[in-house]
Amino acid sequence: VLIGSSAEHVARIAADNVLAGLAHHGHGKNPVLGVATGSSPLGLYRELRVAVAEGRADFSNAQGFALDEYIGIPDTHELSYRQTLITEVCNTFGLPVSGLHTPRGMADSVEEIEAAAHAYDQAIKASGGVQVQILGIGSNGHVGFNEPGSALRSRTRIKRLAAQTRIDNARFFDGIEHVPTHCVTQGLGTVLEAGRLVLVATGEAKAEAVALAVEGPLSASCPGSVLQLHQDAVVVLDEAAAAGL
Ligand code: GLP
Repeated sequence: VLIGSSAEHVARIAADNVLAGLAHHGHGKNPVLGVATGSSPLGLYRELRVAVAEGRADFSNAQGFALDEYIGIPDTHELSYRQTLITEVCNTFGLPVSGLHTPRGMADSVEEIEAAAHAYDQAIKASGGVQVQILGIGSNGHVGFNEPGSALRSRTRIKRLAAQTRIDNARFFDGIEHVPTHCVTQGLGTVLEAGRLVLVATGEAKAEAVALAVEGPLSASCPGSVLQLHQDAVVVLDEAAAAGL
């Protein structure tokens, strides 16, 4: 657990740990990065842009695997996680759009989405595996969209969004009735296969979830607690998010 003194400091610490993790787990070549949506990693993404500009990093041959995607929003829609990541990841630090993988959230049938979710796990394996997975944490302890109650060894699959998550994410939509009810998310078991995990959380609204994830019992009621099972997990916080530790 590393605690930064400001949002900028948190972002710098997180970026340094991502780059060190890529060097360690990926030998510096053809980075395979797990990328997350949400406000938490935005400062980190800007720091990666600085690292690219200074010649300390190069993502032009990188692949990125998203954690999750909404069901029922076309991946060309601006609120899809695919479009969000094109803006926040590809257009920020140069990971090519052709290397960005996102779970499929639109299809004619549930079976097709399930098959695509299974294929997504296979695609991660075929890439050689995620070297560094960037994570945020939901105020209810979710990681990706693994809501409380998610099986600790789950794989990429369809999940129903928790009521709290729909409330938290309603700010992006024209009212809560427009927030999707379901998503496809990498499973906790999928996430745990990454070489290094770098979780970023800031602000007092995350303090309780962070305390439960880092110091609470290993439990499906706080999906973030699976980080305790990982041998190279880095949690980067500001003072407010660390207040419950
Ligand atoms: C979203 C995403 C998560 C993210 C979390 C926190 O719903 N699916 O991957 O970590 O909620 O978001 P934020 O960083 O904006 O607080």
